Amino acid sequence: MTTDGVTPIEAAPQVAGLFPDERVAVRRVIAHAGHQASLLPEERSAIGDMAPGRRDEFASARAAAREALAAIAPSLVAGIARGPQRQPVWPDGVTGSITHTKGHCLAAVARRSSDSDSDSDEDFVIGLDAEERDRVTPRIARRILVPAELERVEAVDDEQGQGLVAATFGLKEAFYKAHHQLEPRYLGFDVIQVDIDGDGLARFASTGAALAIDPASDVSGRVTEIDGRMIAAVWIRRSVRSTPRR
Ligand SMILES: CC(C)(COP(=O)(O)OP(=O)(O)OC[C@H]1O[C@@H](n2cnc3c(N)ncnc32)[C@H](O)[C@@H]1OP(=O)(O)O)[C@@H](O)C(=O)NCCC(=O)NCCS
Repeated sequence: MTTDGVTPIEAAPQVAGLFPDERVAVRRVIAHAGHQASLLPEERSAIGDMAPGRRDEFASARAAAREALAAIAPSLVAGIARGPQRQPVWPDGVTGSITHTKGHCLAAVARRSSDSDSDSDEDFVIGLDAEERDRVTPRIARRILVPAELERVEAVDDEQGQGLVAATFGLKEAFYKAHHQLEPRYLGFDVIQVDIDGDGLARFASTGAALAIDPASDVSGRVTEIDGRMIAAVWIRRSVRSTPRR
């Protein structure tokens, strides 16, 4: 606990290191009701219909996200509203992502290359997801895996297979959270396929679905297990020559 009676917000270098670029700031916090006091007006309006535990997670993750924003650009710290598809609405020029599992909250943010201070030709967005390894069931596997992924799971023992399903699940949700910042629409779990090597590096491939990017060349991902949770980070790059600036 901190002196003001809430759980501390800490840097999470192991999670930040999953991204292929050191510009990403990640903060973690254990959910605590005390963080509700720090919610800003545009954030507070989102919690009306949430159960108490969920409010704590929402508020704690928002507090972590604001601290991560302060680390990359203090002038950009602002309330992070909830968009119509439940997505966090980041300040202009910022990409970010939030995840929580059983009160463990993580928030990652970075300045997009396309913001006006940058002369880079490349824009990028990030996604972050955490999945409880033990929560993954065969029913979840059947729902989220495409045939090539299912074959890889069936080729290993049950213990390894459960880890592989949780890792694939996390990478696909992290991909969705990132892609949503390029094109705000729902994507099913069959729009990409993921292959993960022994170091947790992911290769993405198209299954033929129309996407804002080419999964094979534009998407990087990495996943690692921390305390029984699969933490997945995804980075999508896109040339800004072909896209309007935000
Ligand atoms: C949105 C979704 C990815 C959230 O994942 P989850 O494991 O249920 O929950 P997590 O704790 O990891 O993430 C929750 C956070 O995701 C963020 N989020 C919610 N909807 C989002 C969206 N459309 N885009 C980006 N981020 C979103 C929010 O910040 C939310 O936390 P908050 O409500 O406290 O702000 C998931 O519920 C979902 O709808 N998945 C289906 C779509 C999908 O993943 N397709 C795969 C394509 S390959």
